[in-house]
Amino acid sequence: MTLPAWWQDAVAYQIYPRSFADSNGDGIGDLQGIINKLDYLQWLGVTAVWLSPFYPSPQIDVGYDVSDYTDVEPTYGTLAHFDTLIAEAHRRDIRVILDLVLNHTSDRHAWFQESKSSKHNPKRDWYLWRAGQNGGPPNDWEAFFGGSAWEFDPITDEYYYHFFFRSQPDLNWRHPEVREAIADVMRFWYERGADGFRIDAIDPLFEDAALRDSGVAESITDLWLKYFTSGRNEWKIFREKFHRQFMLPDNYTVLPALRDLTNAYPERILLGETDSVLCYGNGEDMLHSVFSFEITDVASMNPARFREAIQFRIAHVPSRGWDCNTLGSHDRSRAMTCFADGMDNQARMQVALAMTMLLKGTPMFYNGEEIGMEDLPIWDAALFRDGLGIWAYETLIAHGYSEADSIRFADTVSRDKGRTPMQWNGTANAGFSPDGIQPWLPVHSNYTVGVNVAAQQPDEKSLLHFFRRMALLRREHVALRRGEMQLIEADARIVAFRREHHSQTCMVALNMSNEAVPFDFPPTLIFSTHEAEGPRTMLEPYEVYVGIIGERV
Ligand code: NOJ
Ligand code: CA
Repeated sequence: MTLPAWWQDAVAYQIYPRSFADSNGDGIGDLQGIINKLDYLQWLGVTAVWLSPFYPSPQIDVGYDVSDYTDVEPTYGTLAHFDTLIAEAHRRDIRVILDLVLNHTSDRHAWFQESKSSKHNPKRDWYLWRAGQNGGPPNDWEAFFGGSAWEFDPITDEYYYHFFFRSQPDLNWRHPEVREAIADVMRFWYERGADGFRIDAIDPLFEDAALRDSGVAESITDLWLKYFTSGRNEWKIFREKFHRQFMLPDNYTVLPALRDLTNAYPERILLGETDSVLCYGNGEDMLHSVFSFEITDVASMNPARFREAIQFRIAHVPSRGWDCNTLGSHDRSRAMTCFADGMDNQARMQVALAMTMLLKGTPMFYNGEEIGMEDLPIWDAALFRDGLGIWAYETLIAHGYSEADSIRFADTVSRDKGRTPMQWNGTANAGFSPDGIQPWLPVHSNYTVGVNVAAQQPDEKSLLHFFRRMALLRREHVALRRGEMQLIEADARIVAFRREHHSQTCMVALNMSNEAVPFDFPPTLIFSTHEAEGPRTMLEPYEVYVGIIGERV
């Protein structure tokens, strides 16, 4: 396998730059803020970071609407800050993965400005422009973030296509110059020292070339309205609705070129924002990793569903594939909010963190998970920053919902609640921004009751220390880093698996219940949250147990 060992061994950590650390007191996180926290990340046991986009952007989609791929958003710093960040991270053996947003650009990007200027502009076909039909858009396609996928532009009397917001026009991946332009972007950052890319939104890369209708009558607004008001995920219908715009086989045709380019730089990796195992290709020719989102999607203390999702990945990931396991991201509810039950919150979060750290694959933690940060429900419409939350709120109001219900339902889909500033200490603004400054999103008030780094750092019983201990455990045992994985049959309340690498075999047992559960313990204990004297027969409530089954010499 040509998987760089550093990636296989990594404990990875997603930094959301806008919310991580504000070094210059403008209420917005920045690159210098990240540099200032590298010692902390090293102490924590993090060996790779993924930076969400820090490029110039109008911030409609908080940086996922890039208006210049090869520069730094001025509020975040400069290219010189980026160079320092790379040098300082590498000095601490921390690799840096960047976000590559290649499905779409911002409508402010110079490429789109040129493209829209005239039907004859050389960049016209870099995007998807079509004439309308019968006084309306070219077909029935809608955008994932609401409304028609086609936006009319009066300058040339044609529509352009966008899968996300209308300010995020899709690039035309069938155009060789587009592929070359993105290749140049990759080279630019590889040459500046980036260690890889997390590739954003791979699944909507290509659309049906013949522009055939989706044929699904239910509108995206109705689907979202159902989701807002029921909280139920209508993902299956979403998939059907987007079957001409999402996960087309053509997507895989462009991955080998990205891999070839990446292979020209030693030890770089490509991680796709998808759970499609087809993106592994033959294990050598497409992506190094994709996310195991089936496991992430469980998002509750449900051992049966975890076992099923883990077994699914074991069965479907090709032998040369290497998943990235994660509990959350800037797009989801925070893990603590998903796993807490109001009684055993920390113990339950420990189980979730341990599972993510010790499953086969590379773990990726979202900043703040290590201290148990929670969602902050948005209570005032003026506080929404995520375009999706703003659109949802406006749509609900337009459909006659009350102000309070519109905010509450919009908050189910708005991603602001999980993007609030990182909680560093117990001073004003949780130490994210100086006192007296209003951060771009409000800070969760639980920073005053121990949910902050400074409070947990001296406390060996804290979640933060547990995280660090798990990272160390992974580092110390090759089977936990690189081993193959098999589920172990056990009581229904347990998720247990074996990790085996050459001579070493470890076992991980996670009790996902608040009851003691019988368990067949391996001979040698490496770690337990419940150390006890003598032979054991019961796994204690929410116990995390790691043992060695065998070590042949
Ligand atoms: C996935 C990103 O994680 C999300 O935040 C963004 O809105 C979409 N891709 C569109 O770029
Ligand atoms: Ca700042």
